[in-house]
Amino acid sequence: MRKLVVGNWKMNGLAASLAEIEALKGLTSSATCEIVVCPPFTLIERATARSHGSSIAIGAQDCHSEATGAYTGDVSAQMLAEIGARFVIVGHSERRSTYQETDMSVAAKARAAHAAGLTSIICVGETQSERDLGKAIEIVTRQVIRSMPTSGASENTAIAYEPRWAIGSGLVPSISQVEDVHAAIRETLVERVGADGRAIRILYGGSLKPSNAASIFSIENVDGGLIGGASLKASDFTAIIAAAG
Ligand code: 13P
Repeated sequence: MRKLVVGNWKMNGLAASLAEIEALKGLTSSATCEIVVCPPFTLIERATARSHGSSIAIGAQDCHSEATGAYTGDVSAQMLAEIGARFVIVGHSERRSTYQETDMSVAAKARAAHAAGLTSIICVGETQSERDLGKAIEIVTRQVIRSMPTSGASENTAIAYEPRWAIGSGLVPSISQVEDVHAAIRETLVERVGADGRAIRILYGGSLKPSNAASIFSIENVDGGLIGGASLKASDFTAIIAAAG
C-alpha cells in the first residue's frame, strides 16, 4: 500500500509560509508516498496553485456537515473542493475537545466530504487517563465505528490514530502500543466494510518527527502519518516523507 503523509499546519501560516510548499516541491520530487499539506483555510487556494505540477495535494483541516446554509463562519466541503482541496481532516482531537465535536458530527462531516468528492481523514485517539484505565483500544475502535459514515471506503477515507497525550507533547507510544491499536482499527474496518477495509490507510499521528518516523512507519498497519509541528518546516517534513519511502 502506498503510504500517505499528511502535514497539518493547524492555525499557523501566512502568505510567507507558501514558500514551504515551494521548498517541499523541490525536495520531494522523487518521493513514492502520497503527500498532502493541510494549511489554514485562507491559504488553500494559493497553496493549490503553488503545488501545481507536483505530487503534493492540498487539504483542509475541517469542514461543515451541510453543503450550504445559515452557518455563520463555517466552510462547506464543496467550497473546499472548489478551491482545489482534495482532502479534509475531520474530528481532530483539538476540535473534539475545543468544540465538543462528537463521533456523530464527525461522521456527518466525513459524509459531506465524500459527497463533495474529497477524501476524509478521520481522526481518533484516546486520552492519557483512558489509556491508563486500559481502555485505549475500546475507545478508539468505538470512535472508528461511530465516526466513519457508510459512504466510507478505501478511495475516500483514511483513519488517523492520534493518541491525545502524544500530540505536541514529545511523547510517543511504544511500538507495541501503536501496533496493537492499528491492528484493532484494521480489524474494525474489515468488519465494517469487508475486504476493502484492508485498503483503508491508517495513519499514526502525535509527535512524529524525523528521528522516530522510520521506526513508526515500519510497524504493521501503519500506512502513513499525520504530522503537526514537524510539518511546518520543509526540511523536517521532507525527512519524514523520506522515511515513508
Ligand atoms: P504534533 O505532530 O505536533 O504532535 O501534532 C500531531 C497532530 O495533531 C497532527 O494532526
